[in-house]
Amino acid sequence: MLGNEEWAPHQGLEKAYDPETFRELGHRLIDRVADYLKRARARELPVLDMPEPGAMMEAWPSEFPDRGDGQIVERLQRFIEQANHLHNPGFVGHQVSAPLPAAVLCDMIGSLLNNGMAVYEMGPSQTAAELHVVRFLADRIGFDGDSGGVLTHGGSIGNLTALLAARQARAGQDVWAQGQQENYAVLASAQNHYSVARAVRIMGWGEGGIEPVEVDGDFRMRPECLAAAKERAERSGRKVLAVVASDCTTSTGSFDPIEAIADFCGVHGLWLHVDAAHGGTALLHSNHRGLLAGIHRADSVVWDLHKMMLMPALITGVVFRENRRSYEAFAQEASYLFEGDDPEKEWFNVGLRTMECTKRALGTTAYVLLQAFGTELFADYFDRALALTRSFAEMVRSSADFELGLEPRCNIVCFRYVGRECADRNAQQARIRNQVLKAGNFYLVQTRLGQSLYLRLTLIQPFTTPQMLAELLEEIRSAAQE
Ligand SMILES: Cc1ncc(COP(=O)(O)O)c(C=O)c1O
Repeated sequence: MLGNEEWAPHQGLEKAYDPETFRELGHRLIDRVADYLKRARARELPVLDMPEPGAMMEAWPSEFPDRGDGQIVERLQRFIEQANHLHNPGFVGHQVSAPLPAAVLCDMIGSLLNNGMAVYEMGPSQTAAELHVVRFLADRIGFDGDSGGVLTHGGSIGNLTALLAARQARAGQDVWAQGQQENYAVLASAQNHYSVARAVRIMGWGEGGIEPVEVDGDFRMRPECLAAAKERAERSGRKVLAVVASDCTTSTGSFDPIEAIADFCGVHGLWLHVDAAHGGTALLHSNHRGLLAGIHRADSVVWDLHKMMLMPALITGVVFRENRRSYEAFAQEASYLFEGDDPEKEWFNVGLRTMECTKRALGTTAYVLLQAFGTELFADYFDRALALTRSFAEMVRSSADFELGLEPRCNIVCFRYVGRECADRNAQQARIRNQVLKAGNFYLVQTRLGQSLYLRLTLIQPFTTPQMLAELLEEIRSAAQE
């Protein structure tokens, strides 16, 4: 038998769990975060100051000591300094939000409570929050009371989850129990996000698992080409189970026409999955709902709240028109967690509907922010982002030395510099982007449309202004001279 003294925790643990130590650290860190937010908003630090990856590895010690140095705030401050600063309004790059600062506090409580979310008893109030948030998304999609779903860590897992359910629902056999007896395929435009291709490969369908559907000049799926795509897939020995619509697409912000695609799915008994990871937030504003007309006819929808809902990564809604379908993706039994053979009776155990077992309480952050700020804030933010995009597109259109890749429909703009004679336009755009990144005032990305390379902006930062974007065009002009 060990005596009481032998059972005493390591001294370091006493200090690590000491509430007063935590209070002091927390206050210091929050002060630093608030200062950081001020500096980032005022653009007092470069959006991105990035050494070569090897140099960055060198800059951070790789040895982990037996006895720590207690430097938590200082080390976190260093991470803050060396980050890509999404809170700087010059961030106009990828589709990741500058989260509401209050979200940081929500996430802190999520980490503190660490309620795992697979089963109700491991996160009772958080389960209610998650299911209410899913209900909110379902209502905005226009689904009725039979709908339901789950939150996942990101749109990639969300797309996989929806397509697993599609397979189980449309394969005509119990794939979950018996494995795949046939070769399957989904139809999608080549503009779909790569997570769809990954989902299809994870399910073992290989390269032919996506049959591409042609797009129009604005990179929207052409629904009149669906029949030919289905025939092509069938001729190569595949059973087509679903169509994936992208609303909007990642590269160009184009909206696939859901009504016409839903008509096709209805006639052919196919599952319709709408990847609205980015565009879903259009549903919150009456001026923009029309971009997703027909989405209520989808069988499943993915909607990322960490893109156009000002929330931190990752919070994704995977919403099914028929709630019972949400149990089909993962139909296995885990008797130590779940009871009985009717998963719907266990609607409160959200782990039945996702591949994640332990899962952060994603719904709590979303619930608190939606309640605290109200849905109007998110709707207005989306509306402003689209207005800013229109204003920037007009600037590009009216400048002889720039051209638009396409007319933007969402808050994603593809454009390029065409001012000076240049033998290799693509290399020129890449060079310009590198120059702009080096200057540190803006972070923008690039994308290929056909054979051409375009600069690409996502106007996702809530405080970017038309004036800043005019400065960006000037900066691009200067970079092109060099
Ligand atoms: C249309 C679309 N779908 C899915 C994803 C993947 O989402 P996540 O990054 O949350 O996994 C993205 C990411 O940019 C996207 O643009």
